[in-house]
Amino acid sequence: MTRLNSQLQQDDVPLELVLLIQSLMVGCKEISFRVGQGALTGVLGSTSSENVQGETQKKLDVISNQILKDVLIESGHVKSISSEEEDDVVACNPEGKYLVSFDPLDGSSNTEINSLIGTIFSITHGTDGIQADDPSGFLQPGTQIAAAGYVLYGPSTMLVMSTGNGTHVYTLDKTQGDFLLTESNIQIPADTAEFSINMSNQRHWEPNIQAYVADLLVGKEGPRGKNFNMRWVAAMVGDVHRVLSRGGIFLYPFDNRDPSKPGKLRLLYEASPMAFLVEQAGGMASTGETRILDVMPTDIHQRVPTVLGSKNEVEACLAYTK
Ligand code: AHG
Ligand code: MN
Ligand code: MN
Repeated sequence: MTRLNSQLQQDDVPLELVLLIQSLMVGCKEISFRVGQGALTGVLGSTSSENVQGETQKKLDVISNQILKDVLIESGHVKSISSEEEDDVVACNPEGKYLVSFDPLDGSSNTEINSLIGTIFSITHGTDGIQADDPSGFLQPGTQIAAAGYVLYGPSTMLVMSTGNGTHVYTLDKTQGDFLLTESNIQIPADTAEFSINMSNQRHWEPNIQAYVADLLVGKEGPRGKNFNMRWVAAMVGDVHRVLSRGGIFLYPFDNRDPSKPGKLRLLYEASPMAFLVEQAGGMASTGETRILDVMPTDIHQRVPTVLGSKNEVEACLAYTK
């Protein structure tokens, strides 16, 4: 079986980026282990602190963030880091080539129920002349991504990643400690009859998303002429993994609860890396108006409405929103 390193070499990934990804995976393997220990080591539950998003941090959010910071700083290839769990960017090595954005633990409320969680990351080149502690280095559209992916801590620990040569799936062989290629160049089926959205927010959605989902719910008798199924993991990483594995449409649309939060998901370390993976697998990812990878960030913690997945279904949704 092909190891992660061999695949990266085959894809002509520059050596420094390979070394950076290796370091990142050292961190993710440690998170996988810590998550797996669960209640045995007292890592479950919340801290008394809030992150910059105003969300209570779980102990595992803080632990995972620290693990990733440590390995990335030590690697020497990273100029700076932006993380869901850090208010500001973290300056690393001024000589480092790359900027890394990450959600150290996505879906962390699922730790309480032993369900799917993961780490989402995105890697771009640093810009010459921008200091390591300057957040403006991160304000690049997703089209500039050099590598993006997630590690899913499920029944198996999996890495799903793209360096711009398709989206590949690796499974962690816990006996050897290697990520082994288990599926290359995955393709999302263009058509689907499965959608994924937090229905409890329905009353807060904008009218066009209400209309789209209402038509899905009418099923065969409605304008779409077929019945749809619904799935919701409540961790983007789990929902997107299902979409990448067997197709589907995932939505976290704009809602009107809080005008300062247009949607829940964060552009840099949630929507954009997932959009990169989805596009590399033949799918589509949009805010409802714009291709996610074309959105020019204005803030490292910026949120965007997100619609992604099977190409024809995303297009069907955009017919309502555009
Ligand atoms: P995080 O745990 O990193 O804060 O992200 C959780 C996100 C995302 O993974 C998921 O799709 C969404 O929050 C679920 O939130 P709701 O249950 O509020 O819809
Ligand atoms: Mn998240
Ligand atoms: Mn998180």
